[in-house]
Amino acid sequence: MRVRVGLVSELPEGAQKSVRVGRQSVLVVNDGGRFYALRNLCTHESYPLEGGRVENGMITCEAHGARFDLATGAARSMPAVKAVRLYRAVQEGAELFVEEL
Ligand code: FES
Repeated sequence: MRVRVGLVSELPEGAQKSVRVGRQSVLVVNDGGRFYALRNLCTHESYPLEGGRVENGMITCEAHGARFDLATGAARSMPAVKAVRLYRAVQEGAELFVEEL
């Protein structure tokens, strides 16, 4: 499944946007000019990851501070231990899409 996120210009460095992919909420982020997409749900207690700080290839859950690697989805700090599901962010010209892996 593929879903249009919007224009690349709408997601400048540091920006985030959530979109529906099927029944899931997927968070698309721009970290340092690279786009990443991951399930918008922390694997600790299922709070949304949207709004968490994004820097240095990681996103930090605002609820209890778990950090996830944007490139692999791996949990990098407690209290989360399970990886978050990744999607593929695809840039085509001026447009941005997410796809299921
Ligand atoms: S819900 Fe994300 S760290 Fe607890």
